Amino acid sequence: MRTRTRLILGLAALAASAAACAPNAQQDSLNPQGPYADKIYDLFVPVFWIAVGVFVVVEGLLLFIALRYRRRKGRAAEIPPQIHGNNRLEIGWTILPALILAGVAVPTVTTIFDLAREPQGDVLEVNVLAHQWWWEFDYPQEGVNTANELHIPTGRPVYLTLCAVGLGYEDQPTPSVCQPGPPDGAIPAAIGDGVIHSFWVPELAGTQDVVPGQANTLTLQADAPGRYSGQCKEFCGLSHAYMKFAVVAHTPEDYDAWLRGQQADAVMPESGSLAATGMDVFLGQCIACHAVQGLEDANGNPVVANGGPNLTHFASRECFAGCWLQNDDPEELAAWLDNPAAVKQGSWMPDYGLTPDEIDAVVAYLKGLT
Ligand code: CUA
Repeated sequence: MRTRTRLILGLAALAASAAACAPNAQQDSLNPQGPYADKIYDLFVPVFWIAVGVFVVVEGLLLFIALRYRRRKGRAAEIPPQIHGNNRLEIGWTILPALILAGVAVPTVTTIFDLAREPQGDVLEVNVLAHQWWWEFDYPQEGVNTANELHIPTGRPVYLTLCAVGLGYEDQPTPSVCQPGPPDGAIPAAIGDGVIHSFWVPELAGTQDVVPGQANTLTLQADAPGRYSGQCKEFCGLSHAYMKFAVVAHTPEDYDAWLRGQQADAVMPESGSLAATGMDVFLGQCIACHAVQGLEDANGNPVVANGGPNLTHFASRECFAGCWLQNDDPEELAAWLDNPAAVKQGSWMPDYGLTPDEIDAVVAYLKGLT
């Protein structure tokens, strides 16, 4: 009975771990789609086959010895002659693994330094700021700030500077670039805990930790246009699993068109429309955290971001809320506005108790921000 229980438990564990190997067309580091991912793949494959070779030789010898010299029925249980030490064998099995490891170390260390080198030439620089639980992408040279979707041109290295939001500070906008410490005299305010995240787009690059108060870098590049799925890879609190993002690679021409669209101010809704009502609700409730470029508050000041995603071109994105929710589904947006924490556990976006009519209006407004 106990054997059978163990067998069932073992099979269940095996099935659970085998499920991790299910084909995943979107997050597959064995399907590199750019030169930086290629370098990692080109290191992985030979090291993998060396490891397979070592495994086969060691396990083969083990099995051979265990079978060849096992105790057999009908033979006297005699103790074999006892020996101690064999210099030649011991030197051999010390030197051989050392040589294999040294051989693997050469390409490994070369690749590590190669990947860490800052790319030269025509490089796109983007600041990546990790929040709980979404990603901010800031293009300092282009004057574009977006969320959860990193748009890049193909064939051009993208040099990322990554850091994580620490505690927020009262009356201080959340920085959109990496800052080592709090501004002078700043009073902490809760807009997300300063925790470590990790940035990973398996098809385009390796992983890089994203740490509050520290700027790390990572280079990625895509060969072909497409949408590459990414994921926070370091447990960072309740909604870690929903902290996804996408890298959207365009041809250089399409990328320029995207840039021009993002640089433009937000579309103003037609007066008297449902979207215009939504904009009023938005100005009353949402601008404490969210920016919309081109919009002004009641005092005529521009609406800048303070801890929440910049929504200037919200409707141009396919996903939101850490790419956990899809933008083509108005019901997901309405549910999110109704009670964010019910959709994404621990969400820092407050429930403002909007009425269903107000939610409809805000959805109409956001859908118009193309
Ligand atoms: Cu951010 Cu896990």
